[in-house]
Amino acid sequence: MELYFDGIKIFKDNCKNFDEERLFFEKNDYVIINDIITDELKKYLFDNISYDKNVLNDKLQFYREHNNSECNFFLSKFLNTIKPFYDLVLKKKLSNFIGFSMKYNKDSELLPHYDNYNMPISSTICYWNEDKIEYPIYIDKSFFNNPHPFRLTVNDKKGIPKINIIKININEGDIVIFRGRNHLHWRDKKDIKDYRAILLHTEDYTYNGNLISYVENSDNIIKANINEVKNINIYGLTDINNYDTFRKNYIMYFNNS
Ligand SMILES: [Fe+2]
Repeated sequence: MELYFDGIKIFKDNCKNFDEERLFFEKNDYVIINDIITDELKKYLFDNISYDKNVLNDKLQFYREHNNSECNFFLSKFLNTIKPFYDLVLKKKLSNFIGFSMKYNKDSELLPHYDNYNMPISSTICYWNEDKIEYPIYIDKSFFNNPHPFRLTVNDKKGIPKINIIKININEGDIVIFRGRNHLHWRDKKDIKDYRAILLHTEDYTYNGNLISYVENSDNIIKANINEVKNINIYGLTDINNYDTFRKNYIMYFNNS
């Protein structure tokens, strides 16, 4: 696939069909595509995405720096441009992308959590890792049929059985795609100088063969409305501190160990 963003080639590899990656994703709910972003694009993203130091102390953002609002147009243009790549890899209907860019530093700590209702599929595109530090994302391989519409945090890394943990090392130029509503995911706190990634989210919900989307700006896609779901706390973030208790109390939402 030959895609260009503002005249800059996005991918190193032109002619792959990604069948292997798609099968892996369908079986495991995650896949990593290593070293696929061109150096030119990495630099272009680095030069054009700036960050807001004011959110450094925001627990809700896991102490990461969020891109500032001046880059919103640039980022949404990039997300629209790269969408055909995800259509090709996943070979399924996907709703419009929502996303942002994050800069991680030594205070950042992505606690184990499940994502929001409108983001069943997440992707991380790492475009900068200044000191080439190993900074993996971890995924709990247990599939959770998540009933919470908003972020559910299970802040108990030590309580997650080792046998459940998948380590995915995301380096500069790599793209990871995973089902963040169904699998707990997190990173460890590390002494990072400067690590930057675009995080994007999309939906693949279907009914009667049609794509259904909660995302506001999805044109020509059938809309779902979270406000019409009964008995839902639409603003509720949930925090749980013990993994073992969580697994026992939520056992009806799990199929496996
Ligand atoms: Fe997440």
